[in-house]
Amino acid sequence: MKTLLTVAGAVVALFLTIAMFGTAGWDRPPLVTSQNGYRGTAMAQVETKADALEVKAENKAPEAAAPAEPGDDLAGKTYENVKVLQNLTTNEFNRLMVSMTEWVSPEQGCTYCHNTENMADDSLYQKRVARRMLQMTQHINATWKEKHVHEAGVTCYTCHRGQPVPANIWFTDPGPQARSGFIPRNNGQNLAKESVGLSSLPYDTLTEFLGKKDIDNTVIRVNATTALPEGRGKPIQDAEKTYGLMMHMSQGLGVNCTYCHNTRAISNWGESTPQRVSAWHGIRMVRDLNGDYLEPLQSTFPRNRLGALGDVPKINCTTCHNGVNKPLNGAHVVEAYPSLTKSTEIAAGTPPAPSGGTAVPAPAAPVPAAPPAPAPEMPAPKP
Ligand code: HEC
Ligand code: HEC
Ligand code: HEC
Ligand code: HEC
Repeated sequence: MKTLLTVAGAVVALFLTIAMFGTAGWDRPPLVTSQNGYRGTAMAQVETKADALEVKAENKAPEAAAPAEPGDDLAGKTYENVKVLQNLTTNEFNRLMVSMTEWVSPEQGCTYCHNTENMADDSLYQKRVARRMLQMTQHINATWKEKHVHEAGVTCYTCHRGQPVPANIWFTDPGPQARSGFIPRNNGQNLAKESVGLSSLPYDTLTEFLGKKDIDNTVIRVNATTALPEGRGKPIQDAEKTYGLMMHMSQGLGVNCTYCHNTRAISNWGESTPQRVSAWHGIRMVRDLNGDYLEPLQSTFPRNRLGALGDVPKINCTTCHNGVNKPLNGAHVVEAYPSLTKSTEIAAGTPPAPSGGTAVPAPAAPVPAAPPAPAPEMPAPKP
């Protein structure tokens, strides 16, 4: 009996030794961790060093073009059909045309937008879209500077990345109902869609939350603010749609939920990071861009550029962010192109302030459009 136990003990010891050597063969990959909440709240982003480097390399801003030679003649005088960039000098105008070509159509060249027989001709839809894009870019850098894009700003490259059609656009998803009369109503659920992290959450949350300008009544708020229900709560579908949008935002920025929320109190602005306030304004900005700039281009785009329901291609968080928290790693891309920082049309009003739901502290009265105050001592995340 004693020898049997000794043998069994030796066998166990042998297995343990093998197991130890086995695990010793695995190295923990070098990790990059950035803390964005209090210690112990698990509000941190953890990435492998290799992934972080790869993402960084994929999101490099291009070199700005050399400054234009000085000159006095204005493009509006030199050329025949200049409607947005009249006040640029002819040299600045030509420099911008060359940069736009690099940003949007480096392979196709000037001919992507121009009939080279007559540069003033507006017959190509690409040129008419590009003119509105110029105004949209100016509007982003002017009206949304304080609230979202700050000194970094955007150029055509932020979204286009050397392609006429940005890699990340979206259309309203008609779902299976539109394709077949036999599928029962499914509330837009149970189809793995990339826009909601391949989950079975409702697949068309983007139309609901980012599609139109004046949808501030679609409140993205589902948490109860009282311990006991005081009326009819939000239906579960609203919660699911909200989570669908949150999946999109997290993926678009390459972060997890704790980049913005303390998950013990998701709705509480006081425990959220300053990034959640940026995101709040980001949601309003995207609605504004889709509503005022893309939608009105519906009759300008040819049918083959429209979605299944005839709707325009639209912008979401990923269009600019491309999987990083600051597009193009936070490079100040617009600095070298001051003509893209001033709006050439009447500003479409000041962006709104957060409202609705008692969880948001009332905005400070005298300051218009004050964002909700995030927790003051939260350490700022490393860029
Ligand atoms: C992505 C689209 C796009 C590309 C590519 C592009 N342009 Fe343009 N171009 C425009 C738009 C839009 C206007 C009108 C701007 C306005 O109304 O302010 C314009 C206007 C012009 C005009 C003024 C024509 C006139 O008489 O009214 C010239 C000249 C010009 N572009 C030259 C070029 C050259 C040269 C290239 C290639 C290096 C080029 N463009 C590439 C969109 C483009
Ligand atoms: C905020 C993101 C964003 C910015 C900034 C932006 N664009 Fe676009 N652009 C889009 C989206 C979205 C579309 C629609 C994609 C499509 O055409 O299917 C588009 C479409 C276009 C098209 C039509 C492509 C096609 O063939 O359908 C042109 C041309 C264009 N943009 C030029 C520009 C120029 C020039 C600038 C800078 C002055 C610019 N864009 C800035 C998002 C952007
Ligand atoms: C980039 C910042 C950001 C990220 C990442 C993010 N959220 Fe949010 N979340 C917000 C903002 C902003 C709101 C408020 C939106 C509004 O009011 O328009 C919000 C609202 C919510 C709400 C509703 C809160 C309430 O008051 O009822 C829930 C629930 C939520 N988020 C869950 C999540 C989950 C789960 C994740 C991860 C999958 C996530 N969020 C990732 C910014 C973020
Ligand atoms: C037109 C382009 C554009 C779109 C669309 C856009 N953003 Fe941004 N966003 C930016 C730029 C540029 C910055 C960097 C500002 C800076 O460097 O301070 C930024 C910064 C942020 C930040 C702060 C990041 C940090 O680490 O401090 C958050 C959070 C954010 N965006 C969320 C969103 C969300 C959520 C959406 C979609 C609802 C969105 N953004 C859509 C351009 C955009």
